[in-house]
Order: sequence, then structure tokens, then C-alpha cells
Amino acid sequence: MGSNISVDMKKTPAFRCETHSEKESLAVAKTLGHLLRPGDWIALIGELGTGKTVFAQGLAEALGCREPARSPTFVLIQTYRPKSGGRATMHHVDLFRLPPGEIPCLAWEDLLSDDAVTVVEWAEKAMALWPPFCLPVHIDHLGEDRRAFRFYSVGDRSAEIVRALKSKKAVS
Ligand SMILES: Nc1ncnc2c1ncn2[C@@H]1O[C@H](COP(=O)(O)OP(=O)(O)O)[C@@H](O)[C@H]1O
Ligand SMILES: [Mg+2]
Repeated sequence: MGSNISVDMKKTPAFRCETHSEKESLAVAKTLGHLLRPGDWIALIGELGTGKTVFAQGLAEALGCREPARSPTFVLIQTYRPKSGGRATMHHVDLFRLPPGEIPCLAWEDLLSDDAVTVVEWAEKAMALWPPFCLPVHIDHLGEDRRAFRFYSVGDRSAEIVRALKSKKAVS
């Protein structure tokens, strides 16, 4: 299943943007969220406090989920169902507490086969398990409120999503 994303990650990102506030990061996430459909996977990579959970909140909002995504640090996975008129269920996974080298003891295969969007924080901890259609998003801390987002195309589906995101952000 491994998609050898560690190699791809050294490449130039397909799209990069900077934000200067939480609100701006939410706006980027919402734009991306509107492009997602059930089955998509987003791998969020970045140090503590870079804004992975903020980004997941924006995705959940754009998908029309019932509850805002909170930090699921203690529970590994939280599932948000769509409210009426919402577009997809979202699984919000946080691998922060996963000991190095361990395989997450959650139903990974169930997540892969589920008709939902899956968003993984600390995704680098389970790199070998990422599905090949996963979209990796790196977040870098540039300053107190400044963050850089790097989006990688590692397969046809992530390339398609990043292309659409790039064109939308170019006009926004
Ligand atoms: N440009 C920005 N984008 C996202 N979050 C930001 C930004 N500037 C400041 N912040 C703050 O950084 C913190 C990010 O927290 P969180 O999303 O929980 O991080 P993580 O999940 O990566 O540990 C929040 O307190 C948020 O208000
Ligand atoms: Mg978090």
C-alpha cells in the first residue's frame, strides 16, 4: 500500500501559499474542502501549533459537518457526520500520541474503504500506510501568525485537487 511519499516530498510542491492569520488558514482549508469528495485523504504534516487542527476545522466546515473539528489529541479519531445538506462524513485522525514505529491501532482498512473524507494530523507517523491517492499538506511556522502551506501532487487525484485549488486561490 505504501506510496513512497517520502521521496516525492523532497520535490517542489505543486502549490504553496502563505497565510497571516488563523482566519486566512481557515479560508484556504475551506476552499480545499469544497473540492473534496468522499474517499479523499488529506495528510497534514507540521509541528505542534502550526495549524493542523485549524485546517481540519476549515475542511469540516466546507464539507458541511455537524460539529466543528476539535483537536482529537486524546482520542486518535473523531468522526463528524454531515448535517442536513452537508456533503460528506469526515474522519479526523490525530497520530500525535502514536509511539514512533508503531502502527496505529485503529481500523485503518475500515477508514480506507469508507465513503468519507479522512484527514490525518501527524500523518508522517504512518507514512507507509498512506493510500497512494492521499494529498500531503505540509504546514510551516514562519512567524507568530505566519504559516506556509505546501501542497504536493503524488498521484492523479491529488494532482487534480491541487490544480483546482491553485486556480481558485489565484482568483480569490
Ligand atoms: N496563520 C495561521 N494559521 C493557523 N493558525 C494560526 C495562524 N496564526 C496563528 N495561529 C494559531 O496557531 C494555533 C494553531 O493551533 P492548532 O491548529 O491546534 O495546531 P496543531 O494542530 O498543528 O498543533 C492556533 O492557536 C491558531 O490561532
Ligand atoms: Mg492538532
